[in-house]
Order: sequence, then structure tokens, then C-alpha cells
Amino acid sequence: MNKLKKEPFILAIESSCDDTSAAIMHGKKSLSNVVTTQDVHKEYGGVVPELASRAHQKNIIPVVDTAIKRAGISKQDIDAIAFTRGPGLLGSLLVGVSFAKSLSMALNKPLIEVNHMEAHILAHMIEDDYSSPEFPFICLTVSGGHTQLVVVKSPSDMDVIGETIDDAAGEAFDKISKIMGLPYPGGPLIDKYAKEGNCEAFTFPHPKVGELEFSFSGLKTSILRFLQKEVRKNENFVDENLFDICASVQKTIIDILLKKVKRASEITEIKKIAIAGGVSANSELRSRLQNNQFGWDVYIPDFQFCTDNAGMIGIAGYYKYLEGKFVDQTVTADARLKI
Ligand code: KG4
Ligand code: ZN
Repeated sequence: MNKLKKEPFILAIESSCDDTSAAIMHGKKSLSNVVTTQDVHKEYGGVVPELASRAHQKNIIPVVDTAIKRAGISKQDIDAIAFTRGPGLLGSLLVGVSFAKSLSMALNKPLIEVNHMEAHILAHMIEDDYSSPEFPFICLTVSGGHTQLVVVKSPSDMDVIGETIDDAAGEAFDKISKIMGLPYPGGPLIDKYAKEGNCEAFTFPHPKVGELEFSFSGLKTSILRFLQKEVRKNENFVDENLFDICASVQKTIIDILLKKVKRASEITEIKKIAIAGGVSANSELRSRLQNNQFGWDVYIPDFQFCTDNAGMIGIAGYYKYLEGKFVDQTVTADARLKI
């Protein structure tokens, strides 16, 4: 029997926010990674927790079923069930946690709890077309709910050395795009429109916070004030300058992110830089990291493993499986779980 054959099959479940996802991992390889995005939130301009939980409830069985079928295995082949315990929206997490606990009991398979933020980082270790960083490395995790700088020493040893004191980077993209009248989630749209605009057209202030801290709520307020002032003079200001505003906003957010990464790299003397989370899908952030002048080796996972997905829960679960770190039926969701 070759090495791969002995690797475990892990069913992974992710339901922390507004994506219901299930994956089957075989060792470090993802055999399937099914994600159902909930369109119901679009008209509200952000995730509505109550609607998210209901949609998870509706989606979870078909999503898990599809993940198992696409992987070409049967339920009996599963060696363990990994699930997101937190952080996230409590009602959303409860759906995934309860489902994983029930299935574990029904199939008599061990349960593995996973921290969503650690999983975003460990997505880098999935065996795929991209290269994985060696430990230690720095990871900038930028999503709709979090912005963190993490020194990753091993799959089970991570230090958060900086984080946001208010809004997350993705939240900044989404809230600023909402001010401009764009639909949720605004991050991908700002990315798209910025390509057509001049990023030097407008300048916005950087926050005055600790050297490894982030803050984006002041930026959002200053853009709101700026747009209100301009719209009083010309009611079509946003429409006429949409591309330039998007390019300038995006540049400001990325300048702030990269300034902190640079400082983190200087302090830790680590030059292996990875990015994770939904905002790592941003094309400008990717290209500025890849073309950096600082001698960094940059690691960016495949797009499907950047935004919320169960593959990343599966790889985090795999490392815990190797260490025999299982949990029992008393485990509960933890909306504020920390790294
Ligand atoms: O990791 P993720 O899928 O979910 C959370 O855990 O939050 O991240 C979603 C966030 C949203 O704020 C979305 O606007 C942002 O990632 N995002 C982007 C891009 N694609 C997704 N932000 C900027 N540029 C993008 N291309
Ligand atoms: Zn996430």
C-alpha cells in the first residue's frame, strides 16, 4: 500500500458566516470542496445573521452530500469529521457544529474542532498547484471579519502579532462600497472598477495606531465625509468618478496593509510572507506583493482556498488528526474563539 492510501479521509464542514461549505480531504489533498454562497444577503448590503443560519440549515445536507459524491467515496470511508468551532456568527456556527456532532455520532467517527482563522492560514499547506511556505512564515489574514498578522511557527503554534482595533479590511471594502451605492460584497467590485481608474486621483489619510495595529473605521468615515462634500457640489460625483474613487480607496487600504507587513517582517526578520482570507483574492494586493522590493517570498493560495471554504477546515483538521486531537460531544460553538 503506498503512503497516500494510508492517509485519512476527512470530511470538513464550514458554516461560520454566509458560505455553507463541505470538503473531503485525502491527507493534504482536497478531493472536493463545495461552497454554496448565500445570495439572500445582497439586497441588505451585508450579512443578516438570522437569514444566514436559516440558509445554512437548508444547504448543509445537499452540500455535504455533493462533497462526498464528488470525492468518489462513501460515508463509510470517512475517518474523521472536522468542523469550524469559531470564530464567526453564533447562529451560523451552530448549524455546522450540530450537524458535525450528529454525523459523528451516527457514523461513529471522531470529531475535530477547527479555528476558522488558523484554517485560513493552513489553506497554504493544501497540496495543490501553488507552493506551500516552510515554517516559520508571516501570514496576513484579511477577510470580512478579521485582519491579523500572524507568525506561523507550525500548524499548532501561531502568534498573533497584530490585528485590527475596529473594522476588518474586507469590511472596509464592503462598507465603503456601500457608501458608493454598490451591492454587497463590494470588495470584488472595487477591485474590478479600480483597474479602470487612477489610484492617485484622491488621497485619504492613514490611521495613527500602533505599528502592527490596523484600523479602518476612520478611513471609512473620512471617505463618507469626502463624498458627502463632493456630492453637495455635484450630485453625479460618485458616478462620474467611480473608477478613480475605487482605485484610490483600494490603494489606500493596500498601502496600509503592506506598511504593516513590512514592519512585521523587519521585527521578526521573517521574509516568507503568506496572505489568506477573502481579501487575498484582491488582484492589486496580489500583484504588489508578488512584485515587492523587499526580497520577500510571497505565498498566495489558489482562489478557491482564499475565501471561506471547507478545504481549509479539512487541512487544519488533518494536522489535528495526526496528533490525535479529537473532541467529544460536549463541544460547543465559540463565536469569539481566538488563535
Ligand atoms: O474570507 P471571506 O470569504 O469571509 C470572511 O471570513 O469574512 O472574506 C470575505 C471578504 C469580503 O469582505 C469581500 O468583500 C472580500 O473578502 N473580498 C475582496 C475581494 N474578494 C473578496 N476584497 C477585495 N478585493 C477582492 N477581489
Ligand atoms: Zn473567513
